[in-house]
Amino acid sequence: MNKTNVAIVGLGTVGSGVAKLLLDHGDRTARHAGRTMWLKKAVVRDLNKPRDVELPDGVATDNLADVLDDPDITVVAQLIGGLEPARTIMLQLMEAGKDIVTANKALLAEHGPELFSKARELGRSIAFEAAVAGGIPIVANISQCLSANQITTLEGILNGTSNFIVSQMDRYGSAYDDVVRKAQELGYAEADPTMDVDGTDAAQKLAILAHLAFGATIHWSDIPRTGIDGLDPADLRYSSELGYRIKLVATAHQADDGLELSVAPTLVPLGTPLAEVRDAFNAIRVVGDAVGPVFYHGLGAGQMPTASAVVADLIDTAVGRTKITFQTLAYFTSDHPARTKQRD
Ligand code: NDP
Ligand code: HSE
Repeated sequence: MNKTNVAIVGLGTVGSGVAKLLLDHGDRTARHAGRTMWLKKAVVRDLNKPRDVELPDGVATDNLADVLDDPDITVVAQLIGGLEPARTIMLQLMEAGKDIVTANKALLAEHGPELFSKARELGRSIAFEAAVAGGIPIVANISQCLSANQITTLEGILNGTSNFIVSQMDRYGSAYDDVVRKAQELGYAEADPTMDVDGTDAAQKLAILAHLAFGATIHWSDIPRTGIDGLDPADLRYSSELGYRIKLVATAHQADDGLELSVAPTLVPLGTPLAEVRDAFNAIRVVGDAVGPVFYHGLGAGQMPTASAVVADLIDTAVGRTKITFQTLAYFTSDHPARTKQRD
């Protein structure tokens, strides 16, 4: 059986989940890729820190060079959060000839053009299914499965932590600070949960999706956004009495005069699919001109749902399938010939 040697950089919540899947379920990856995905190295900052996964001897290292200098490692899951050192490490990995899989949407939303240009220049791929909506395969769906469509609307719940917080406050009357802490304990929240509750994380994901769906090169910070951090518990109570739930909704809509984008707490009528999205679940409604409306629902945060997306990307990368996503992005970050069609 052929094997692809992979490495993980950053063994936190998501990295540990990816390691568990690779170590425990190599047979599944063999089934789909025709090859075993073999975890050769996991780069950590502190070798003595207790981890959520037991690694075989020799896998953990605190030296990135063990990955950079190993020609047998061809694919790397880059799972450090934030901008630096994640950006520098990703560039180093690509320079060293590695294809990348990442869940780091903050990095892609901030430095995507630079990273994808570098990938194109070096002939490397960057797969990022896990960066948006955790376990929901929304990147693949928009960039591949719905590629025959002009998407007109994309709206949904893209931040699991915010949805967890409003769900718990709404259902159990929990105190805001307690639920934020619980979201951190459960591994849903960013290292700095401010990004979750002030709408930044949802705006970063929306910018990525808008890029894929509409070809819009928009910086996430230009998306008008309001988070759930300013909500009064009374707002949640009154909205229920009036027949609504408050959800943090991210919207991209192609209007006649341009693309409208926003992230904001929104009154969603009870009984509609978005209103029923609970806890760390995410949901996205996409409307395409050919397919009509399509609704996606699943866990948008958490260790194993996110690891599911990362490992699928590792497999796709090993067999060359992520080139499709990569080319989509490369198309938008490069000079390209005018689009042509058979009939005007
Ligand atoms: P964690 O904070 O749990 O893990 C990040 C890990 O990176 C930590 O273990 C940290 O080490 C490690 N790290 C930081 N710098 C270095 C370095 N220089 N070398 C090696 N390791 C380093 O975050 P998550 O696992 O939750 O998230 C990782 C990424 O995935 C983020 O970009 C996040 O936005 C994204 N994501 C997370 C989801 C989730 O549900 N958690 C869902 C979807 C995406 P140390 O332990 O020493 O601090
Ligand atoms: N902090 C993010 C969230 C993780 O809560 O949605 C998933 O991207």
